[in-house]
Amino acid sequence: MKIACVLGSPRLNGNSAMIARRVLEKAAALGAETETFSLNTLSYRGCQACYACKTKLDRCILKDDLSYVLDAVQEADALVLATPTYYGDISGQLKCFIDRTYSYLKPDYLSNSQPSRLTPGKKLLFIITQGHPDETMFNHVFPLYDRFFKWHGYAESRLIRACGVGGGGAVDLPERFLFEADEGARALIS
Ligand SMILES: Cc1cc2nc3c(=O)[nH]c(=O)nc-3n(C[C@H](O)[C@H](O)[C@H](O)COP(=O)(O)O)c2cc1C
Repeated sequence: MKIACVLGSPRLNGNSAMIARRVLEKAAALGAETETFSLNTLSYRGCQACYACKTKLDRCILKDDLSYVLDAVQEADALVLATPTYYGDISGQLKCFIDRTYSYLKPDYLSNSQPSRLTPGKKLLFIITQGHPDETMFNHVFPLYDRFFKWHGYAESRLIRACGVGGGGAVDLPERFLFEADEGARALIS
């Protein structure tokens, strides 16, 4: 079982990265093979809307650090996406990555009952952190992206959401998020 993890925060030891790390440690202890990518350390561009992935290739035509990440995600059985909330959405780093996953969709994805180039049955775990303690704020983010990842073939998905965790100082996550991370890991490999 392979798990790819894509970190969207520039804070390599921040809240979302800490939860993701715990998920991967637990999953590895349960036998999974894991690989983590910190987007902020990579050099890449967002989607150029060239439509090469819809007209002449079955992959993204851009050659940069995301090429390997896109391949690794495609090969993995499960995907962990971790991001802070920025202006009521995911981080810009993660948004650029997700735009590049447009290359996973077949040319006729709007009408095809199997719209994705990925093997079906993959699992998705989304980790979203935010400074605001009110859980009703920004709760649109997961459903928005989950819907697109369903197109990619991630039929089973799960969310770990940590609200009221700030970004200014040292990370001190309440322990319940670490329990949620352990549960998330178990769900990924079950
Ligand atoms: C540019 C920027 C925008 C942010 N926007 C929001 C926001 O819209 N809502 C919110 O609750 N927190 C917001 N935050 C706070 C972060 O989401 C929060 O500190 C998060 O836990 C950081 O996660 P990380 O430690 O994984 O980077 C923002 C922080 C930054 C730097």
